[in-house]
Amino acid sequence: MAITEPDHVNLTVTPYRVAEGTHVVPQLMEAPPVGHFYLNSLVIQGREPVIVDTGTLINRERWLEQVFAIVEPADVRWVFLSHDDPDHTGNLLPVLDTCPNAVLVTTWFSVGRMVDHYEIPMDRVRFVRDGDSFDAGDRTLTAIRPPLFDNPTTRGLFDATTGVYWASDAFALAVPHPVQDLAALDADYVEDALLLGARLISPWHTLLDANKWNAHVQRVRTLPIEIIASCHAPAIRGRDIERAFQTLSATPDLDPWQEFSQEDLDGWMTAAGIEEAE
Ligand SMILES: [Fe+2]
Ligand SMILES: [Fe+2]
Repeated sequence: MAITEPDHVNLTVTPYRVAEGTHVVPQLMEAPPVGHFYLNSLVIQGREPVIVDTGTLINRERWLEQVFAIVEPADVRWVFLSHDDPDHTGNLLPVLDTCPNAVLVTTWFSVGRMVDHYEIPMDRVRFVRDGDSFDAGDRTLTAIRPPLFDNPTTRGLFDATTGVYWASDAFALAVPHPVQDLAALDADYVEDALLLGARLISPWHTLLDANKWNAHVQRVRTLPIEIIASCHAPAIRGRDIERAFQTLSATPDLDPWQEFSQEDLDGWMTAAGIEEAE
């Protein structure tokens, strides 16, 4: 993909609606030299409101403000963690503190992986395994592992009421500027960017048996998905959904991504006029 940095990008992004009562709470970070990556969460309004992933520590103040402008803390009944990576759990404890009626929906292994840095109130935890559902009053939400992932505890979340599938880290792609819908980006750019994202989050793609992996992907691909929302991408709708699956189907055959080297870093530092620390 083209490695270019746009002149100036405003990193201030605000929540947007992707489906009835369903809002992405975005954060945009610079990721030179490939562009920018989103760090999104989701809020589902409804009879029993749900917060899906909890943003990052560095964005805490803004994230709490934006989330609680959408839902009252006392109304939040569920907090779903797609996995325990820091960009998904950054505000977990403030959420549990501020939302006394919220139950944390996660897994045994996620809790185990968080015990060194978070004290999890186990009386407020519900375990949901891959394929399990839970009832959020006016909708059933089902945990389904996405096509690609960077953490063993990962599960996406499908809301059959709206057709929104939260894909966690899958479908990650760098964006050149803020964009709420994948359709706003050039199709060739999207293809390259999706394949870079796939290789970044799942470097084990080179070990895949394509048939086995495709059977895994079919579980998600055959869901009646209307919108894919995810942590590291704009919303994907309509024909772009099938196009994205089609693009990712090449993943098992891709060469591994060549990581940037110290030479690359030296070049960027020199270009930026920054001297190496002694
Ligand atoms: Fe992750
Ligand atoms: Fe992530």
